[in-house]
Amino acid sequence: MIRTILITAGPTQEAMDPVRYLTNRSSGRMGYALAREAKKLGHRVILISGPTALPPPKVNQLIRVTTAREMYREVLRQARRAHIIIKVAAVADYRPATTYLYKLKKGKGSLTLRLIPNPDILAALGKRKRPDQILVGFAAETTQPIRHARTKLQKKNLDWIAVNDVGRPRLGFESPLNQLTLITRDGITFELGRAQKTILARRLLKTILTIPLNTHPLKS
Ligand code: CTP
Repeated sequence: MIRTILITAGPTQEAMDPVRYLTNRSSGRMGYALAREAKKLGHRVILISGPTALPPPKVNQLIRVTTAREMYREVLRQARRAHIIIKVAAVADYRPATTYLYKLKKGKGSLTLRLIPNPDILAALGKRKRPDQILVGFAAETTQPIRHARTKLQKKNLDWIAVNDVGRPRLGFESPLNQLTLITRDGITFELGRAQKTILARRLLKTILTIPLNTHPLKS
């Protein structure tokens, strides 16, 4: 059955002034690989992408955003149409309290930057989730990955969470390689192994499309 799959990818950028911003090390590779593989499997794909240097995959709709708040607006707008939502994007949890219109000039002493929280997009999706929707989160962890991921899965009302241990060298952020573990809301874990992100993307899609969950069975 053809499904509409909404995927978010890449980092967000939070401007401090016209020349500086806060961001993270996400390259967008995992999200782009998922979008490309989902399309190859014949699904309708909406890709909402933060700023990346990668050429975008061919999808049904590509929406580019810069900030977490822009991503929030676009994701919530598109979410109604989606059967499956996969939130790969590494959203900045905080943004500068003030975005200066002009370049901030150097002073004599230290500079304190005040940050305020961004909305949690995935948690908002979890609150609005319909019974026919499947919500998949990602967890980027450097310590106790499975424990932290389980907590996120429950707190954000997800059906699945993919855990990547970003603390290991040459895996995860900025790398073509990754290692993923999938956890269901029923507590079952699936080791997807260590592989190229394209291969992991296909394994992840096949798993979430074929394994029915007790609480939210896949409707055909
Ligand atoms: N996420 C989101 N909006 C945010 C922060 C995170 O939608 N403001 C989503 C990410 O897209 C990912 C999941 O939440 O699917 C987990 O992101 P992660 O950075 O691992 O965790 P956080 O919830 O931000 O918690 P912490 O940074 O404390 O680990």
